[in-house]
Amino acid sequence: MSVPKKLFIKTYGCQMNVYDSERMAEVMGGEGYVETDRAEDADMILLNTCHIREKAAEKVYSELGRFRPLKAAKPDLTIGVAGCVAQAEGAEIIARQPLVDVVVGPQSYHRLPELTAKARNGARALDTEFPADDKFDGMAARPKARRGPTAYLTVQEGCDKFCAFCVVPYTRGAETSRPADRVMAEAWDLVERGVREITLLGQNVNAYNGHDGGLAGLIRVLAGIDGLERIRFTTSHPNDMDEALIAAHGEVEKLMPYLHLPVQSGSDRILKRMNRKHTAKDYLLLVERIRAARPDILMSGDFIVGFPEETEADFAATMALVETVGYGQAFSFKYSPRPGTPAAERDQVDLAEADDRLQRLQALLTLQQRARQDAMVGREVSVLFEKPGRFKGQLAGKSEYLHSVHVLTETASAGEIARVRVVASNANSLTGEIVA
Ligand code: SAH
Ligand code: SF4
Ligand code: F3S
Repeated sequence: MSVPKKLFIKTYGCQMNVYDSERMAEVMGGEGYVETDRAEDADMILLNTCHIREKAAEKVYSELGRFRPLKAAKPDLTIGVAGCVAQAEGAEIIARQPLVDVVVGPQSYHRLPELTAKARNGARALDTEFPADDKFDGMAARPKARRGPTAYLTVQEGCDKFCAFCVVPYTRGAETSRPADRVMAEAWDLVERGVREITLLGQNVNAYNGHDGGLAGLIRVLAGIDGLERIRFTTSHPNDMDEALIAAHGEVEKLMPYLHLPVQSGSDRILKRMNRKHTAKDYLLLVERIRAARPDILMSGDFIVGFPEETEADFAATMALVETVGYGQAFSFKYSPRPGTPAAERDQVDLAEADDRLQRLQALLTLQQRARQDAMVGREVSVLFEKPGRFKGQLAGKSEYLHSVHVLTETASAGEIARVRVVASNANSLTGEIVA
């Protein structure tokens, strides 16, 4: 038997990249590659990249520089760049980085074996097409190995929204949905292999239309799978949050009470310039309707500060929106001008000003998150255990609200769901005790 070749994958960016990396590892598994967590041991290195902000994109070039000595020591090492930087700057990567053998955009991962074979024969290979067919169709089936209790499952890709700051519509292409029967088949398979919680992924996951009933319809059929205990989805756009999906939050027990619903800004003037196509009030009314359906839902969001022309008054409107919603979790970013997007051409906000706003916003969000987390103390939650905790005898898992919970237990094991009473709130997690 030949010695298997080793594949090292490093993943940046969003959960969709995490899912894609898993699928690429499986495809390359079919070509005789096994995964390693040491770049030094690898016969092939794959960077699955993110282009969302300048910092994310820059990391790719510095990381590639680190691999130079490895390639010098092992000339037939294959180096590939996948993901959104590959899509946006593929030709430039080939030109700038002689180290790189393969560049593959997010819609062409099924072609990875072919591109790698080409590279091994000495040619440099680039594929950043947007083929009409489903890339996952042409990819090796998922192997039957047992796996951890939680999994991502991409059901929708791409974005037609064209927010003025964002590269995703260019790097991931138009909105497409995978047919519900394929999603179901993959979900069945995951559950057979030990998965109890599935997070449905999409750049605009609630624009999903691979089921007649949209995302809500898909969630309802998934909820019928025995052994699948929890369903989540991310990321949603406010304008695609329809009545059926709101109702599902009130009715489908397996759908967890956590919703990531980015708003970006609380100023209507800025929202308009961002091309978000909703107002702050639309968003607040939507949150009210969602909370009417599921009062305990924990809200999460994304914010950008320092978007071109943002004034102190616009920023104050964002702070006010945050105060009104009360987030349990949130991500906030300083605006980063991205090549090819409309906002990159506009008057930029002073960087020091933007930094200051980011700090003020993050301070408020941190207070809110902490308050929500502290409010869990004394309450009972359900915890899906995922892995050993930091201390001996401890298990770590997530509550229905996605809080990390650590529990000292001798009887429970990973994959189990237990009723837990929260006894303490720490910096980034809760401590709990199993309720007998
Ligand atoms: N499809 C999702 C997520 C897109 S990217 C959505 O619509 O919400 C994740 C987050 O990155 C965005 O929600 C936004 O807050 C942030 N982001 C996107 N482009 C950015 C840019 N140019 N500068 C700073 N933050 C950005
Ligand atoms: Fe980017 Fe806007 Fe699309 Fe989200 S909805 S991926 S922020 S363009
Ligand atoms: Fe980044 Fe692409 Fe995801 S730009 S956030 S990896 S869709």
